Amino acid sequence: MSTSSTAPEVIALPAATPVNEAVAQAVLDGLSSTPKWLPAWLFYDAQGSRLFERITLLPEYYLTRTERAIFTGYSDGIIAAAIDAYAAAGGKGTGKLRLLELGAGSAAKTGVLLDAAVRSQGSTEYLPIDVSETAMEEACESIARSSSGVVVQPQVANYVTDTLSIPPHDGPTLALYIGSSIGNFAPDEAIAILQNLRAQLRPGDTLLLGTDLVKDSSKLIAAYNDHDGVTEAFNINILRRINRDLRANFDLAAFTHQAIWNAEQSRMEMHLQSTKVQMVRIGALRTSFNFEAGETIHTENSYKFTQEAIRNLFSDSGFRIAHQWTDEDGYFAVTVASVS
Ligand code: AVJ
Repeated sequence: MSTSSTAPEVIALPAATPVNEAVAQAVLDGLSSTPKWLPAWLFYDAQGSRLFERITLLPEYYLTRTERAIFTGYSDGIIAAAIDAYAAAGGKGTGKLRLLELGAGSAAKTGVLLDAAVRSQGSTEYLPIDVSETAMEEACESIARSSSGVVVQPQVANYVTDTLSIPPHDGPTLALYIGSSIGNFAPDEAIAILQNLRAQLRPGDTLLLGTDLVKDSSKLIAAYNDHDGVTEAFNINILRRINRDLRANFDLAAFTHQAIWNAEQSRMEMHLQSTKVQMVRIGALRTSFNFEAGETIHTENSYKFTQEAIRNLFSDSGFRIAHQWTDEDGYFAVTVASVS
């Protein structure tokens, strides 16, 4: 090596992909805990969202189609219940009923209710709220394509962590929280989410909540452990996502899918079980995690409701039940409640 004063050679490093800090923090917190866990929102990268769409079409996964059938069968009654609740509360606004949706996603099931609102009053406004900007774009496109008379005003926000800010309106608002999305949250978190919404609603406004009901455990377990293994792939995909986002080396073949009915807590649980003793390196966290043979990562809770649990949830968050619709098997409930 000469010591002459030539410029030092520049070694080009590949541009570092920025690490998503929320993902990094969630994975660090969850895998450092005993027992290990991961938050369910980590499921929904692009591939996870596609797998969830496939789950909703499975014969065993009755939730989506049952809720949709309730909407289709009773959409006019649902819209009427919201308009009636406003009148009953002495609402004086002259504007039309508008619909707001928490976690709207692609708004696949909402069209039925928007169409009913348009039938009843000629037009309506739709305010989808979702963390995903792409989902909001899809929602706007699909509503614009299929529902005429609907003005869409999307909002990108996280309704779990952010204080909601809903634009004022001179008339009733029906807030939709559907798809059993509330089921991912423990009772205290569920109450906090509904209280956050409640704080932004006015007297006479209503909430439509879609809840999965307690039923035979074999039916529940089948819905989360389908024959084709789509739910298994959805569960395992969380590890693939961590491998990609955090430069980890999870061996996807060394974890198996578990779906368990926890009767005490009234919830379905999904876990990933390590088939052997192993160590997993997570590059972006500069750390590794050890797994025992048989050790599990708890990836999801899906709470199932009794009528009593639904009543308590509403009364604890400041709502009064106005009307409820269920399917003939009593699998799923759609409840409209007004601000109390
Ligand atoms: C989207 C939360 C309602 O809990 O049933 C489906 C997600 N997990 N299969 C549910 C899910 C496994 C789903 N939610």
